[in-house]
Amino acid sequence: MNILFKHLQAVLLPACILSLAACNQPAHKTSATTIMTDTTTLIILPPAAGFEKTIDGKQSHFYILKNKNGVTAAVTNYGAHLLSLAVPDKAGKLTDVVIGFDNIDGYKKAMSAYYGATVGRYGNRIAKGHFVLDGHGYDLYINNKPNTLHGGKKGFNDVIWDVKQINSQSITFTYLSKDMEEGFPGNLNCKVTYELTDDNAFKISYEATTDKTTIVNLTNHSYFNLNGVGSGTILNHLVELKAANFTPVDSVLIPTGKIQSVAGTPFDFTKPATIGSRIDNNDEQLKRGKGYDHNFVLDKHDINTPIAAVTGDQSGIKMEIFTTEPGLQFYSGNFMSGDHTMLGGKKDERRTGFAMETQHFPDSPNQPQFPSTVLKPGDVYKTVTIYKFLK
Ligand code: BGC
Repeated sequence: MNILFKHLQAVLLPACILSLAACNQPAHKTSATTIMTDTTTLIILPPAAGFEKTIDGKQSHFYILKNKNGVTAAVTNYGAHLLSLAVPDKAGKLTDVVIGFDNIDGYKKAMSAYYGATVGRYGNRIAKGHFVLDGHGYDLYINNKPNTLHGGKKGFNDVIWDVKQINSQSITFTYLSKDMEEGFPGNLNCKVTYELTDDNAFKISYEATTDKTTIVNLTNHSYFNLNGVGSGTILNHLVELKAANFTPVDSVLIPTGKIQSVAGTPFDFTKPATIGSRIDNNDEQLKRGKGYDHNFVLDKHDINTPIAAVTGDQSGIKMEIFTTEPGLQFYSGNFMSGDHTMLGGKKDERRTGFAMETQHFPDSPNQPQFPSTVLKPGDVYKTVTIYKFLK
């Protein structure tokens, strides 16, 4: 048992401690905190009991996915959250790289940060919570003054999803967002599948259909710290983005409508740079975001080539991102404020995690020059994003 584990165990009990060698059971719903020990590699998972809860008359559960290398993901059907993700570092030690909490109340308290959440019906901001579709105006709840952020008052992150199809390495959640729920038109049938593949990739596939013309923009809002959750800021992580352009924002983080070149700006990650190297530059866009909180316009790509890579300077863990989406919101955790205790016992201090939210561009419903987020009856919304881990 290594020292780090002993330390974590001390702060974390009662957490579910999973032995990778000993725990060969298939991916499953766990109904109670499980403690299993092993002499080699141990990781700490949230306690299953923290995710067993009845909310709005529906039951939430805790699930484990595990691949043949022992890479392990914990998820729940509450908000289809990714709770933790343990991947090997350069020494082979499994390291939890996704910020989480040890029960649903933790997620509820930190709701406005959307840790690990599936975000919908519309990820990111819609200016003044208003848009017009087919000549009809729609008004949404303003939860991020003066705009609507990540679906409004009660987004897809705060509902219980149904669980379909589980096997040891994948799980599918579905959710019916009813016509006019949160002000969006159309009954939207959504499906999210998480798959942990044997090449150490966490693959997310989204699907949605509607019975009335609507807008949709689904994303995952995990905060990563590739040195391990609670290991300090992410400022020394190295980032590379295949994005020659980004969408600059106004003072309330709504895109101005321009597609701006990153050349010569702190937004140029076309060559690898650490997050911290320019984050506090005297730059109007950085000031508006209090750091990076911007949508990058991804260069022409397909799902087979990574559009982003981030490496933890201490762990050597490299995360590659693949997506079918045209945009990527790179958020450097600027509004994290140390108010919440993360799994592992540390506070969620400023910039101790970053999000890479693959998406269509913010405020697209009001910006016709951006790729469309409109979904019509008969059409199928389908997107895929893969976070792949190398060392
Ligand atoms: C937004 C941030 C926001 C964060 C948490 C990100 O997607 O871009 O501005 O603070 O989510 O809500």
